[in-house]
Amino acid sequence: MEKTLWYKDAVVYQIYPRSFCDSNGDGIGDIQGIISKLDYIKDLGVNAVWLSPIYKSPNDDNGYDISDYRDIMDEFGTLDDFKEMVKGMHDRGIKLIMDLVVNHTSDEHKWFQESRKSKDNPYRDYYIWRKGRGKNGKKTPNNWMSNFVGPAWKYDELTGEYYLHLFSEKQPDLNWENPKVRQEVADICNYWFELGVDGFRCDVITYISKVYDKNGNLPNGSLLKDAPLMGKHNYCMGPRYHEFMHELNQKAFGKWDSMTVGESQGITFKDAFNSIDESVQELDSVFSFEHVTTPDSILMVFPKKFNLVKFKKILSNWQTLPLTSQPTLFLENHDQPRSWPRFVGYCQENKEYAAKMLLVAMQMQRGTPYVYQGQEIGMTNMVLKDDEYKDIMARRIFGIMKKVCPPLMPIARKAMAKRARDHARTPMQWNDSENAGFSTATPWMYINPNYKQINVKASEEDPNSILNFYKKFIAFRKGKEIIIKGSYIPYYEKSKDLFVYQRKLQNKSYFVVCNFKNKEIKFKVPQGLVCKTSSIAISNYDEINTLTLQNYTLKPFEATVFEIEE
Ligand code: GLC
Ligand code: CA
Repeated sequence: MEKTLWYKDAVVYQIYPRSFCDSNGDGIGDIQGIISKLDYIKDLGVNAVWLSPIYKSPNDDNGYDISDYRDIMDEFGTLDDFKEMVKGMHDRGIKLIMDLVVNHTSDEHKWFQESRKSKDNPYRDYYIWRKGRGKNGKKTPNNWMSNFVGPAWKYDELTGEYYLHLFSEKQPDLNWENPKVRQEVADICNYWFELGVDGFRCDVITYISKVYDKNGNLPNGSLLKDAPLMGKHNYCMGPRYHEFMHELNQKAFGKWDSMTVGESQGITFKDAFNSIDESVQELDSVFSFEHVTTPDSILMVFPKKFNLVKFKKILSNWQTLPLTSQPTLFLENHDQPRSWPRFVGYCQENKEYAAKMLLVAMQMQRGTPYVYQGQEIGMTNMVLKDDEYKDIMARRIFGIMKKVCPPLMPIARKAMAKRARDHARTPMQWNDSENAGFSTATPWMYINPNYKQINVKASEEDPNSILNFYKKFIAFRKGKEIIIKGSYIPYYEKSKDLFVYQRKLQNKSYFVVCNFKNKEIKFKVPQGLVCKTSSIAISNYDEINTLTLQNYTLKPFEATVFEIEE
């Protein structure tokens, strides 16, 4: 099938199904709930949806632990619901990107159930089993740590060996060295392509190829350099990563007019370049996470202030990818805290301007933009008590801290208040009725009490809402050649207040001026900028201080795009 590269001009809306809309009153979002909101999604102007996992799962990690890749989680509905949803999307010109979680399965997947039975079970080699170290084999096979804290190995008494799990104990890692595993993954992709899916977001895909020594053992990592979440470790972008991805592309992705995006922790710019250029036929794009670590440290316990200079530097670097590679543009997802006030500081009075400014700052860049459910109405983090966190990550951090070092609990509490994944997972706020219109029953996760003010209905009624600006901006962005393929020229890179850049195609360009501060800032037209005529293309202020590009005073959180001709 010919590749139309439709994603080059797509805006993707991410749905976290558990928290989106509950249709049958059990407190859990579901597929029929999504179907009931398809017109809302279309109205936003997006042309693709990335759906977090909806496959069968015991929900140790909310669907990121899959026990059957070819069926739908009972709580979410049936395959027939799924087909109805795909049709509903396609009828509205919306593509569907499914989550592909194949670094690991659930321990309740039948492959793993078989695998643990005996050392000679045909499925044994689907996973990574190793003997323990030390005299009586009581030490884990190596020192790798799980991304959810604690050792990455679990001892299984049945066969007296350990299995590797880079996430929870209920998420055993698949052994990608085994060609049968790779074939299974390709078959799963094609199964969903045949059902109409348009692409995949590939979960922690940079972890699939592990480093082995010449005896087939997995070597220790150095604790500092190889600690999880630090970027580079012995299971990130291992030696066979490119080979595995190319094979999957040949067997599945490349056979369809699809779009793929890798969740690519620890990927470097160079790695990315080598894996998403159209010529290499692996993935179409990757999420890298460098820029979302600028507001808070990855280790979470050391709070720091958002660093705009660093943030711009990272994003500007990704903009230097050639036109044959597609960057991704995002601030939020189901693992990240809400973007306000994370990237702008607390600013209740001008919050709407800040949220709109962030949209312009991100989406005037080249790449495929992502909007995470609720971002378009300015949903925020929630204040939770220790026992109100539902996510496995927060629960494990609190659990271990309480046991190992109770005096450090306040630090953990502070870190989770800022950084927990729960913040993005509170139910979508549809209106100001009970349970925010998300469900008629008590929802599985707490609703942010600010739903009385922040909700879709109120946003639709307010012409100046964040939501209405999202619609206006997304419509503006669509089909604009300069945005899709214009060059990117940064200005004032050292400014701690402004994010300024130009997008240029021949003699026409957009000049983007974003004020990241909640105060007026003087703006000066950069020296040497060639500009014969200019006018305002779009701004988050209806009444700004100028009609053309010139020196002027920017309003708090102003984002204005000038169209200029040389
Ligand atoms: C990805 C997902 C996250 C999940 C993890 C393990 O990082 O985004 O939600 O917990 O992979 O599958
Ligand atoms: Ca439901």
